[in-house]
Amino acid sequence: MASSPETQIQTLREELRHHEHLYYVDDSPVLTDAQYDALMNRLKALEAEHPDLITPDSPTQRVGGKPKDGFVKTPHSRPMLSLDNAYNEPELRAWDERVRSALPTTETIRYVCELKLDGLSIALHYSPGPKGSAHLERGITRGDGTIGEDVTTNVRTIRSIPLSITAEKLKAAHLPQTFEVRGEVVLPHAAFVKMNAEREAQGLAPAANPRNAAAGTIRTLEPNIVAQRRLDLYAYFLLHGEDKQRGDTLLPTHTETLEALRTAGLRVNTHARTVDSIDAVLKFIAEADTLRDTLGYEIDGVVIKLDGTAQQRRLGFTGKAPRWAIAYKFAARAAVTQLLGVAFQTGRTGKITPVAQLQPVLIGGTTVARATLHNPDEIARLGVRIGDFVQVERGGDVIPKIVEVAEDPKHPRGTIEIVFPTHCPRCKEPLVQEPGEVDLRCVNASCPARLEEELRHFSSRNVMNIEGLGEALIAQLLGHALAEQATEPGAPGPDSGTWDEPAPNSPESDSAPTTEPTRTALVHSVADIYALTKADLLTLERIGEKTADSILSEIENSKKQPLNRVLLGLGIRHVGERTAQALAEEFGSMELLQKATEEDLTRINDVGPKVAATVNEFFSNQKNLDLIDRLRTAGLNFTAEKRVRGTTLEGLTFVLTGTLPTLTRDEAKEKIESAGGKVSGSVSKKTSYLVAGEEAGSKLDKATSLNVPILDEAALLSLLQS
Ligand code: IVH
Repeated sequence: MASSPETQIQTLREELRHHEHLYYVDDSPVLTDAQYDALMNRLKALEAEHPDLITPDSPTQRVGGKPKDGFVKTPHSRPMLSLDNAYNEPELRAWDERVRSALPTTETIRYVCELKLDGLSIALHYSPGPKGSAHLERGITRGDGTIGEDVTTNVRTIRSIPLSITAEKLKAAHLPQTFEVRGEVVLPHAAFVKMNAEREAQGLAPAANPRNAAAGTIRTLEPNIVAQRRLDLYAYFLLHGEDKQRGDTLLPTHTETLEALRTAGLRVNTHARTVDSIDAVLKFIAEADTLRDTLGYEIDGVVIKLDGTAQQRRLGFTGKAPRWAIAYKFAARAAVTQLLGVAFQTGRTGKITPVAQLQPVLIGGTTVARATLHNPDEIARLGVRIGDFVQVERGGDVIPKIVEVAEDPKHPRGTIEIVFPTHCPRCKEPLVQEPGEVDLRCVNASCPARLEEELRHFSSRNVMNIEGLGEALIAQLLGHALAEQATEPGAPGPDSGTWDEPAPNSPESDSAPTTEPTRTALVHSVADIYALTKADLLTLERIGEKTADSILSEIENSKKQPLNRVLLGLGIRHVGERTAQALAEEFGSMELLQKATEEDLTRINDVGPKVAATVNEFFSNQKNLDLIDRLRTAGLNFTAEKRVRGTTLEGLTFVLTGTLPTLTRDEAKEKIESAGGKVSGSVSKKTSYLVAGEEAGSKLDKATSLNVPILDEAALLSLLQS
């Protein structure tokens, strides 16, 4: 008896899903590719006959329609954080100590060790589907950590991501129908090699490394290309879908989380281990390091996470990273190659950086063709000459660097001395070396190279985040013709790691772009970005209506960036992310910050006299004030939420020691600071109070000997109340 088309379709889908899981998640296929294709073709044929029976979670529907208007920006439910790094055993042990000192000594501490996959992180949102199931609703890239891009159409093509999870599986995994999975999308080596071979055959520039290739692929506008590239996903996080009150994590331990993800049918990396000591973590790291070359995908270290989720909550976060996890980065990989020449680049502050042009060499999967030589002192220290063979190191995201000259019979020494220029390679003005400084600088404020770097910095992701305003567009806005380069929509473009790409310059040439401006520049300062019109953009090469519109809307959106980012964008010397944040919070508006005296500035915890002086100097320069006025008129966000500080503890300095019964170190610090008090790391005669908890050590002795009054947590709390 032949079953109904509906039942046949159901059965085929279940069979296909089962085999996809065996193939893509378990790595243990039982069907040949031809057998799998035959099943798929039968399903396709049946669905073609009964189009009303097609559902979005059918295995035939992985490749859907193109995202019409590019990718939509979407906020994350909770920030996607990064991790702090440890580079050696002492740093890792210090982290372990910090974790232990933040938790009561009676608690058991376990760590989960995972491989640190070198791909891009992604958030997958599952929501209720038919019959108690959960279906993949959305996939969002990390973006700037707060807002990512909706890349659902592409995520659906990744076969290790289930489009739906049955009620039975959810039940077995103890999962509700709504939840969020986070994980890493990676491009396996084999797929990377294949992709680059294809790109080269088409005359396109190869991607520098699998991570860039994966990042470019996930943002490709052609889902069928994405489907061919064979991206993979490893899940490592599970968050609550709706009920944020219950905390972020669903299960009591991270070990259970990984198990639940696996039970639900997601791919979880098999090289994960729960251990109960830092020694066991170190053993895992050593094993992972030896595994590294056999895995078939890039890893750049090991991630260690505190197992207990309640413990994780107690430790909390610092700025951008959790305290309860750390990334142990593997040592940089190195190779020997020849130094072909040195280019000199003028940076945002006018600093001249010598950049080594190398015979391209593969280091840990990435082609390296350039490395920084920092400054004249570094060149002298290395004693390096053009033509020398040099040892080049590369670690993770770090710019490759030359460690030493390889001196051996196989590698004859070079003969050409490296001569530092006396004039700026871009504007030809004489360079200046200020007394006591190693760097040479171009002090011409209108040097085009400086403006170019300023624009790049201003529009970059962590600053104003104006997507599309990258290297190529900036060059055009400054009046340069577009350099010849083969690109494909969405493929890793020039923004995906300038340092990894073959140097565009010959050894003698100056910084990019090499061409002289061929027409009048459209921008002369960052404020000009906000005066750009569609007509302006349409005069540029390779900018059509759609691109122009999207750039303009990106520029418009950037006006909403918070004040701290605007401050960062101004490029004030010594003002990095943290200081910009502190300044914004402290003064609450650009106006008040402009009026601040050096004394006002040094009152902020993280601001010392040097920073205060440069900030003050910046705001007394008329040119800068004009720029700020123009940005204000353009409608940028010049206000921030001011940090309200109480006055209860004003003028008092506290030192914290030992474990407090309910407050963590940081909570106590936060409470003291928001009441106007200061927290210092060491006890001195100036200390007003020592707050001591259990197992307080030498600080307690010192405070006693100096007659510094000692408080316990309860006494601190009542002081705060007073
Ligand atoms: S946990 C808040 N686990 O590394 C926790 N991240 O340097 C952050 N990564 O943005 C993520 N493998 O893209 C975690 N097993 C792993 C990871 C991993 C790779 C990436 C991830 C993250 C970056 C932080």
